[in-house]
Amino acid sequence: MNEYVIRPCEMEHVKRYGEIYAAAFSGEPWFDNWKAENAEIHVKEILESEQSYGLEYIKDDEICGFILGSSMLFSYGRTFEINDLAVDPKYQGKGIGTTLLERFLSDLKEQGYAGIHMITATDGYLPEFYKKYGFRKVTQVMLMGLEEDEEVPDVIAERIKAGRDFIMKFNDVEGIPEDYETDQYLKKPQPPLAKAPVTGQITDLPKDFSVLDIDNDFLGIINRRKSHRVYTDEAISLTDLSYLLWCTQGVKEIRGKAYATLRTVPSGGARHPFECYMAIRKVEGLEEGLYHYLPMTHQIERLGGIEDMDAFISESLCEQTWAAKSSVVFYYSCVFYRAEWRYGVWAHGPVLIDAGHVTENLYLASESIGLGGCAIAAVEPAPSNKAFGLDGVEESVFYAMTVGTVKEEDREAEAEFYAFVREEGL
Ligand SMILES: Cc1cc2nc3c(=O)[nH]c(=O)nc-3n(C[C@H](O)[C@H](O)[C@H](O)COP(=O)(O)O)c2cc1C
Repeated sequence: MNEYVIRPCEMEHVKRYGEIYAAAFSGEPWFDNWKAENAEIHVKEILESEQSYGLEYIKDDEICGFILGSSMLFSYGRTFEINDLAVDPKYQGKGIGTTLLERFLSDLKEQGYAGIHMITATDGYLPEFYKKYGFRKVTQVMLMGLEEDEEVPDVIAERIKAGRDFIMKFNDVEGIPEDYETDQYLKKPQPPLAKAPVTGQITDLPKDFSVLDIDNDFLGIINRRKSHRVYTDEAISLTDLSYLLWCTQGVKEIRGKAYATLRTVPSGGARHPFECYMAIRKVEGLEEGLYHYLPMTHQIERLGGIEDMDAFISESLCEQTWAAKSSVVFYYSCVFYRAEWRYGVWAHGPVLIDAGHVTENLYLASESIGLGGCAIAAVEPAPSNKAFGLDGVEESVFYAMTVGTVKEEDREAEAEFYAFVREEGL
């Protein structure tokens, strides 16, 4: 016979709850050093609250386990916190915890709480156990602790670990529900392949590149490519700009009806999740200002002017003031969902990888027409997003590159950027 009774916890049974609690939490995964009398106080203090609610599981006249918690009122309603679920180790492995939790959740549902919360172990069996009942890690809040004798967490080491994890785990399936499908597989509508223009101020870009003096010595270009941070502050031509945009984001073909753009750079899954914005200082025929490339039609649209262009460039590039002598600064944003639609949680690693293809082409294209530039990861997204009208949530600037006019005689001035190597004997 497998008869059991589940009924509300009673203060009279608190000693037994204390015994169960101490025994249960002395084992895996907690290995807490509870004394039964302290555990009894722990349970008693919860039970004493008028907002507490608990259930005990009785079989053969013995209490085998209990579940207990209490509720609290918040601005958005009353939430219940499950404090304890403990089963006497003698009776563990018989499904008592599951039975108690299921019955408890059904009772709480009837009582109509705005939310049910609990604190549990971060890894292993327990979070998995609760996940079956719809519990998810809440990301909007965190448990902050100030514990005596605890080592201060090493924030730097944690950030380093998070960065390494990002690189190593962007394809990881750990913790992702087995039935997870990305939106493409769920047949959700595909986002646009590129952003539509927002202003009517559109300029067609010349596509006759034969007027340019393009160096076709491919190996020579590869060998000469370097970062330039000293510019002669002159204008480049509109065809130069057109050529640079074509070589970095130009659309050569559409795959399928409108499934993907095939461009002059590769991109994971042909998602091409980038938009290219520009702070144009000196391009012949264009007024100084902020612009956006329209790859589908090979045009640019003027977004507007800016009061202090040099200040904007420096601020948006983490005070790299030298950048404000370039002719154009290219700012690359990511439209996240364009990649996430296909790759979901696995989208973000390839985005960063793809960004490298874009700027490498920009380096090589610039070199081939005698210009020079420098890729820039030290970008401040906030001022860049504000200037280009991006929300910083669905789309954000994350990378940039300058391109400007250069001359051989500035080689020494260039070398000064790395004077510290000489000075520090590196
Ligand atoms: C992803 C990336 C980010 C970079 N960020 C910056 C930057 O913020 N500031 C800067 O002065 N140079 C930056 N650079 C340029 C590198 O410092 C440069 O490529 C490196 O020193 C090697 O020199 P080279 O490009 O002349 O071969 C960046 C380059 C890359 C590829």
